[in-house]
Amino acid sequence: PDDLTGTILGRIRDVPDYPSPGVMFKDITPLLGDHAAFSAVIDALVPGTRVDKVVGIEARGFILAAPVAYHAGAGFVPVRKKGKLPAEALEASYDLEYGSAVIEVHRDAFAPGDRVLIVDDVLATGGTARAAVELVGRAGAEVVGVSVLMELAFLNGRDRLGGVDLRALVVV
Ligand code: PRP
Ligand code: MG
Repeated sequence: PDDLTGTILGRIRDVPDYPSPGVMFKDITPLLGDHAAFSAVIDALVPGTRVDKVVGIEARGFILAAPVAYHAGAGFVPVRKKGKLPAEALEASYDLEYGSAVIEVHRDAFAPGDRVLIVDDVLATGGTARAAVELVGRAGAEVVGVSVLMELAFLNGRDRLGGVDLRALVVV
């Protein structure tokens, strides 16, 4: 609904030149700190269809994905930056708006055919989400969608996700 859009947009702070010159950082901490706004966002991210697992992408994706998993009656699976997961992991590299990185997921995180929703805060270039989609697929599960709080449409990240269903609560 429109009031959710306003609630979100009014609580995301633009921080220029962070973490590097020319980057406009979308700071979601004002939104997270507002109980009514945070809970409305979580409720809106809970999928309408059954999912077995909700994947959160370190770090900011964790904050949204864990409560979504709880409300969806699903398990939570962390996709982490390289070197943080203790057991055998699959990895995928990706380019960021600023820099590049590698993310990992535990090889045994999913049961075969698990239906998986991937959750993150922002879709920018789409590199992070695309790598997460690839990881979930390689781990033997089915990605039923990617849901984000905010899509930065001018970066065309949506185009990098192939046919995966992308849902964004706000598009800027
Ligand atoms: C940010 C954001 C998304 C990603 C989006 O994460 O939280 O995960 O970038 O960018 P992309 O669509 O261009 O890949 P970042 O890696 O900066 O760090 P954090 O979540 O650990 O704070
Ligand atoms: Mg992130």
